[in-house]
Amino acid sequence: MRRNVSLLVAAGAVLAFSLGGIANAGIELTKHNMSSGATSTIKSVVGATGTDEICIFCHTPHMNVTKGDVLPLWNHRLSSGVGSYTMYKSASFNGADNYGLLQAVTLNTPTTPADLVTGNMSVTNLCLSCHDGTQAVNAMFNPPNRLNANPVMTGGGGAGSAYIPNTSNAYLGTDLQNDHPVNFTYSVSQTVSDETLHTEGGGGVQWNGETVRLFNGTVQCASCHDPHKDYVTSTEFTPFLRVTISGSKLCLTCHDK
Ligand code: HEC
Ligand code: HEC
Ligand code: HEC
Ligand code: HEC
Repeated sequence: MRRNVSLLVAAGAVLAFSLGGIANAGIELTKHNMSSGATSTIKSVVGATGTDEICIFCHTPHMNVTKGDVLPLWNHRLSSGVGSYTMYKSASFNGADNYGLLQAVTLNTPTTPADLVTGNMSVTNLCLSCHDGTQAVNAMFNPPNRLNANPVMTGGGGAGSAYIPNTSNAYLGTDLQNDHPVNFTYSVSQTVSDETLHTEGGGGVQWNGETVRLFNGTVQCASCHDPHKDYVTSTEFTPFLRVTISGSKLCLTCHDK
């Protein structure tokens, strides 16, 4: 009898724990869950059959390189065969001055983890390592311990059905001219009459109760996007947005328009 009571208590605790888990649901519901365990109605077109690990596609707990602050234990191999990206330019865009040599982002040949700490690596390169469509999403430096190989993928494009296909709207390619500029310094003082930006501070820009993130003072893909954000439970953050696009709040956090 006593034993049954404690079992019930234990079952209750497990239930409470799992309900808590649901309430805190995050990346597992999103398209960034490429694992075999993905059950959400919103699913990546490309998914694994051999592993239910989620983080492994992007991070590993053990990496044998010195970690810089844009490299959060990165496990995904960088883009393959891309010399440079074509970046956004316009007559009135002042940030191009700050691209400096990065106007065309030069990538290293991504063969070893050590490549992650040299050259012009940025958070944007991490995103593009899947989103420019040149690298398989399952190409890892350190595959899951239990498999000891990159997981088998289905549904994607290219060899091994493992790439973001160019038919996906998540496919950006290597021409970024038609994308919001990234990988340049956010600077209020650099702007001229055509632009007005809110002042940065505390690792980002805060305006009207919202925050976007800057990386070493620069605008990157992850300034606007949080690759872990649960935008399935909270649809106003679709797709992976740090601030809702309703009323263009995201844009107005930086741009004083
Ligand atoms: C699709 C790729 C992707 C997946 C999957 C992913 N992450 Fe990340 N993660 C990133 C990127 C890119 C960054 C750096 C940009 C940033 O910090 O937003 C990052 C940063 C982080 C950081 C640094 C702190 C922070 O949030 O800025 C932590 C901690 C982290 N991830 C944990 C996790 C864990 C735990 C999982 C699995 C549950 C996971 N990530 C899955 C891409 C991913
Ligand atoms: C390991 C590969 C990988 C990395 C790294 C990665 N993504 Fe993705 N991302 C995907 C896949 C796969 C999809 C889903 C493609 C599909 O279903 O068509 C996706 C989808 C998305 C979407 C669209 C979501 C939707 O519901 O339509 C956004 C936005 C996105 N990613 C942003 C980012 C950003 C920003 C970064 C870097 C901070 C990043 N991703 C890094 C693999 C990756
Ligand atoms: C200035 C903010 C901003 C930056 C920087 C940015 N994005 Fe986005 N991104 C958005 C917004 C907003 C949307 C959703 C557009 C909408 O729904 O109207 C979006 C949509 C997407 C999508 C979904 C496809 C689509 O067309 O809807 C992908 C994939 C994506 N972004 C990846 C990236 C990657 C990779 C980078 C860096 C190269 C990046 N984004 C940089 C704001 C940004
Ligand atoms: C993280 C801050 C940030 C966010 C969020 C942001 N921007 Fe920007 N954006 C900038 C900066 C900085 C520039 C470069 C301004 C300059 O120097 O001309 C820029 C440039 C631009 C330009 C090009 C201006 C030109 O002169 O060619 C346009 C258009 C633009 N942003 C629109 C948007 C829209 C639309 C959104 C929301 C989807 C958005 N931005 C979100 C920081 C941001």
